[in-house]
Amino acid sequence: MSSQSVQIFDTTLRDGEQVPGCKLNTKQKLVIAEQLDQLGVNVIEAGFPVSSPGDFNSVVEISRLVNNATVCGLTRAVKNDIKVAAEALQDAKYPRIHTGIGTSDSHIKHKFNSDRETILKRAYDAVTFAKSFVEDVEFYAEDAGRTDNEFLARVCEIAIKAGATVLNIPDTTGYCLPSEYGAKMKYLKENVKGIEKAILSCHCHNDLGLATANSIEGVINGARQIECTINGIGERAGNTALEEVVMILKQHPYLNLDTSIKTERLYGISQLVSENMGIYTQPNKAIVGANAFAHSSGIHQDGVIKNRATYEIIDPKDVGVTDSAIVLTARSGRAALAYRAKKVGYDLTKLQLDEVYANFLNFADRKKEIDDNDIHQIIETSKAYRQIISA
Ligand code: KIV
Ligand code: ZN
Repeated sequence: MSSQSVQIFDTTLRDGEQVPGCKLNTKQKLVIAEQLDQLGVNVIEAGFPVSSPGDFNSVVEISRLVNNATVCGLTRAVKNDIKVAAEALQDAKYPRIHTGIGTSDSHIKHKFNSDRETILKRAYDAVTFAKSFVEDVEFYAEDAGRTDNEFLARVCEIAIKAGATVLNIPDTTGYCLPSEYGAKMKYLKENVKGIEKAILSCHCHNDLGLATANSIEGVINGARQIECTINGIGERAGNTALEEVVMILKQHPYLNLDTSIKTERLYGISQLVSENMGIYTQPNKAIVGANAFAHSSGIHQDGVIKNRATYEIIDPKDVGVTDSAIVLTARSGRAALAYRAKKVGYDLTKLQLDEVYANFLNFADRKKEIDDNDIHQIIETSKAYRQIISA
């Protein structure tokens, strides 16, 4: 069976930029937008144009710069937001307006002091108005994760009637379990009239650490777009991490779902976003963390030196990391020490290794991690050194 394509909608510059204290200026946004375009994302959500003159300007400049991806601007279901977004997007090769409204009972009651019928009408009017500017209109049902499926299906139906090309089903509060989120997508696929005219999109937040799992469950159950950010940054606990969903689909080809992402660019763009936003990426972050391909226990190191696949399911080069790392600590074994010693120029015999290893353990008990300079020092202060240089 040939693979079906899952669109990658990157919202690093909109939802991602909502991280407190991580505001980017237009110049930084342009650098990131260009890299996102080269990474191969299908959609770049460039900002929320009505929110500030700076954001408006960023969307204008990104629209002019981007060659391949669709450029998208966020709005509320408010006429002026939509008009301003259309203006900001006017130079985009492929413009998309992303409009929507809260649909859960909590949002309807507490945010809007409204009722379901009024929300349906506002959804219809917003999409119709956005369609008067651009062909490509995405509708979001905010807090869809906590919206009951029957009402959500009515919202989707009315958005499609008004011309929505994409239906975004956000788990805004990161509440859903993967099985629930998947069942929601399945329900919409099976119950919304006209669903074949639109693409269903996953937009999952990570409040319970389930954003990636929910997005994957969403596409398994019929969604064909994932909204995500580089390094999973975003409001509160963040959004679905782009690098995670892309690599999950790549490493599980039997799902028959693929993306157009050039995965060997993932590490570079992760670093770029982290540096520009001033957000440090946790070392154990999947795919792009400093330890994602580092091995420190003796048992693992021995396996990886014999064959990388014993403890790695991804070739680091596939995501732009030069090589796996064999980290030397007091938990490392002889195989790791011999491997690292060889890399810095010492080809140790078994006898030499035995002696250097004893010296290494003493050193490693005092220092957390042994670097290349330490290796030189350990070897040069070992009796075996004289044998090495005279050999
Ligand atoms: O999380 C959310 O619901 C959103 C929408 C505005 C799309 O970011
Ligand atoms: Zn969001």
